[in-house]
Amino acid sequence: MGKKREVTIVETEMEVIGVKKLLTDDYKVVEAVKSLRTNILFSGTDIQAIGLTSCDSNDGKTTVALQLAASLAQNGKSVFFLDTDMRKSVLPYRVEHKEAILGLSHFLSGNATLNEVLYHTDEPNLSMIFAGLQPPNPAELLGSERFKNLVQQLKKYYDYIIVDTPPLGRVVDCAIEASLLDGVLIVVNAQNNSIKQIRRVKTQLEKTNGKILGVVLNKVSMRDRGGYYGKAYNQYGSY
Ligand SMILES: Nc1ncnc2c1ncn2[C@@H]1O[C@H](COP(=O)(O)OP(=O)(O)O)[C@@H](O)[C@H]1O
Ligand SMILES: [Mg+2]
Repeated sequence: MGKKREVTIVETEMEVIGVKKLLTDDYKVVEAVKSLRTNILFSGTDIQAIGLTSCDSNDGKTTVALQLAASLAQNGKSVFFLDTDMRKSVLPYRVEHKEAILGLSHFLSGNATLNEVLYHTDEPNLSMIFAGLQPPNPAELLGSERFKNLVQQLKKYYDYIIVDTPPLGRVVDCAIEASLLDGVLIVVNAQNNSIKQIRRVKTQLEKTNGKILGVVLNKVSMRDRGGYYGKAYNQYGSY
């Protein structure tokens, strides 16, 4: 069971964001995410705030993070999706939100209150914060007391905080966040990332004392693995 809803900090009359349309119903993907979910559920109660990073853009961080968040929510956990990729905020566009949306950057810079940036989603048990407008200093905002307090506050109200981050192979943001999170998953793009790139990301996380929970092997071509279905059935591997 998730934490009691009456202690939630999300106001009930808030706008509901449609994220269900972004979730795949591909059986293999759903099953792979379920096994990732099981690994997380059995990682211990101290693993609550989980970041997802990768070497580069387009490796699948946002896709895997959202799929994982929804999967945990479907399991009865109360889940919060926190988009911290303030440099490349794709979610308002993907959920087809027409108006300017308040998000993390507005909150961290003092331009919005917490309740103004929280949203419900059409996935029961799943709430979220968008990244907000691109600020001039994303890394500085993520290193602030305000961000630290936000993560601590959310952990009191939700079972899991799934934190989408920018690629660590490109910018330092996730390394800054890692020390505030309980663990980080590295999403590896099986079709694009080199061993050297992956090692560099791993080393950067280790330097921050961030706990690496494991690796999600994404965009795996089933053809390469001798599978029957061919490339259309890319799947998420679990760690
Ligand atoms: N396993 C997968 N199979 C096929 N397409 C995928 C997979 N994972 C991600 N994608 C696609 O790759 C693109 C980049 O994914 P995204 O999650 O936005 O990456 P990132 O957040 O790392 O920049 C999106 O169009 C997404 O739909
Ligand atoms: Mg992303």
